[in-house]
Amino acid sequence: MKSINLVMNIGTRNTAVYQQGKGLIIKEPSAVLISGRNGKMVLVESGRAAVQAAQEPHAKEQLLYPIKDGAVFHERAAVLMYKEFIGRVLPYSPFKPRVSVIACISCGLTSMERRDVENVLIRAGAGEVKLLESPLAAAEFLGLEHAVIVDIGAGKTEIAVTSPSGLIAGCSLNIGGDAINRAIMDYVTDVFRQKIQFSTAEKVKRSILSLSPADNASCVVASRSIQADAASSIKLETRGVRQAVEPLIDKIAEAVVAVCSQMPVNIYEDVAASGMHLCGGSANIPGIDRYLAEKLEWEAHVINEPDNACVIGAAHFFDDPGKLGRLLNLKNLR
Ligand SMILES: Nc1ncnc2c1ncn2[C@@H]1O[C@H](COP(=O)(O)OP(=O)(O)OP(=O)(O)O)[C@@H](O)[C@H]1O
Ligand SMILES: [Mg+2]
Repeated sequence: MKSINLVMNIGTRNTAVYQQGKGLIIKEPSAVLISGRNGKMVLVESGRAAVQAAQEPHAKEQLLYPIKDGAVFHERAAVLMYKEFIGRVLPYSPFKPRVSVIACISCGLTSMERRDVENVLIRAGAGEVKLLESPLAAAEFLGLEHAVIVDIGAGKTEIAVTSPSGLIAGCSLNIGGDAINRAIMDYVTDVFRQKIQFSTAEKVKRSILSLSPADNASCVVASRSIQADAASSIKLETRGVRQAVEPLIDKIAEAVVAVCSQMPVNIYEDVAASGMHLCGGSANIPGIDRYLAEKLEWEAHVINEPDNACVIGAAHFFDDPGKLGRLLNLKNLR
């Protein structure tokens, strides 16, 4: 029986699954809805259905995001979630094919955290797991041997210089779309003395945030006044939200400088002309490429399909396992 080859993005907010021969088959929140029965955790829903069910007015079950900052945060929930995702690709037959997974992970995980990801996927049904740092997958998507990749996700930003034999330099910051949402919430509290929910900050970010000084838009969102603790609403504008978010993007810029300063001169000559390549969901923030380019006086490009570049890039290795072996320093892959 032929094995099933999958790429899975181990994301804080989203899980993408790419199946060889079929393409991107799952792109859903990394979430599960759990109920407790007889002291045992039981999966009610996973992915998009879990988030939707949790929004029902009388939902009793608990919504969990089992991956935090790219690492396994809730092991049992993570097993249940990935088991359900992997189960979707298995045939209805007593004879299940072997499932082989390339897992796209953060480059900042400790060896214990890497083992946790591996164990969780094995317990979820994978027969074999290879861990691939997301910048290496993005560089493969671009077809570049050497590249400076900045993957800005929800919990983390991965910054790395890639080569055909692995990462030359890299770091992982605890800054991403979630931190941007929290910065927007803090801004609303400090300036307007109002509170907004995390999900409201997410909506504000997606509807009016832009890092281009020329852009300006506004939106009105539900809030609660801090003093009276009463329902209210506020009007937010791009300019104010941008100022609240810029310090976080400046930290990403500083980290790009730190990582690139570790790059050997011959590699720099190779990457200098093309500049840095941005991917991850938060690379969709309008103007983020121009902002970083101006700050660092270096070209910055958002990769085509920034949300899916890593899983699609990693899937290239199905056709060339020897290349993946050299990248991961594995001896048994030809
Ligand atoms: N159009 C958009 N504008 C602004 N932010 C966006 C947009 N689209 C997605 N995002 C943000 O991208 C983030 C999700 O990106 P992604 O799916 O790459 O993260 P992840 O892989 O789950 O997280 P991590 O890599 O940190 O573990 C969220 O914070 C989301 O708000
Ligand atoms: Mg990610």
